[in-house]
Amino acid sequence: MLVSAKEMLQKAKEGKYAVGQFNINNLEWTKAILQTAQELNSPVILGVSEGAGKYMAGYKTIVGMVNGMIEGLGITVPVALHLDHGSYEGCLKCVEAGFSSIMFDGSHYPIEENVAKTRELVKICEEKGMSLEAEVGSIGGEEDGVVGAGECADPMECKMVADLGVTMLAAGIGNIHGKYPENWQGLSFETLEAISAQTKDMPLVLHGGTGIPADMIKKAISLGVAKINVNTECQLAFAEATRKYIEAGKDLEGKGFDPRKLLAPGAEAIKETVKEKMELFGSVNKA
Ligand code: 13P
Repeated sequence: MLVSAKEMLQKAKEGKYAVGQFNINNLEWTKAILQTAQELNSPVILGVSEGAGKYMAGYKTIVGMVNGMIEGLGITVPVALHLDHGSYEGCLKCVEAGFSSIMFDGSHYPIEENVAKTRELVKICEEKGMSLEAEVGSIGGEEDGVVGAGECADPMECKMVADLGVTMLAAGIGNIHGKYPENWQGLSFETLEAISAQTKDMPLVLHGGTGIPADMIKKAISLGVAKINVNTECQLAFAEATRKYIEAGKDLEGKGFDPRKLLAPGAEAIKETVKEKMELFGSVNKA
């Protein structure tokens, strides 16, 4: 059964570790992530961007697939199915489709409008027992056509949004989606500390988990980050393993063209990546 991310994140915040959100793109992705979480006895959040939602033929398809897999694979660790960077309309669609968690990304609105829309969604999520992530200060890089500048959030605005009763809060601290450029300045721990001081028990979310050095991840967790999003790194691992398979001509040997064989090295590579992250984030054996 899918669960809200509330309990797993409150425990993570208290226990000073983070739960990974891994974005899914298809059946292989979802299966690899769920199996790894189960093997490592770790809670997990499956992230779905609006673009990935469309790609997988709509939110209802995804809910059916994930629920079916939880049963079919005997998954017993807590799993939340979460909309990543949702629009207001996208959030309502996921509530309707049976997601257990949503993110409303109102970071591109003026703060008053972000607050007003977040407030409405808080009410809906409370009624449904779902978790809600809000965002303050846009996260840099490009994700599904949404381009953010990578600003640092204003700690007082963070407090304003946290006080609305959201479950977790994403705040820009110089992090960006995708690969980090050579001249990246690193995370702003000063901003993170100021946000933590204002938002107290609120689990904070670090987006753009791909390519952040391990010591920065650990420091971010020590300063209140309880959820870390990873997307690009699984994509890169999958693509590399698949390329190697093809370049080695394995698709031309016997039945090597069978998708169950062709996609297997990529799925293994996703598992390895997810395992590495769960170990780094400290969520192993925290189910
Ligand atoms: P990366 O693609 O940089 O790992 O970021 C993922 C993310 O933050 C999803 O919201």
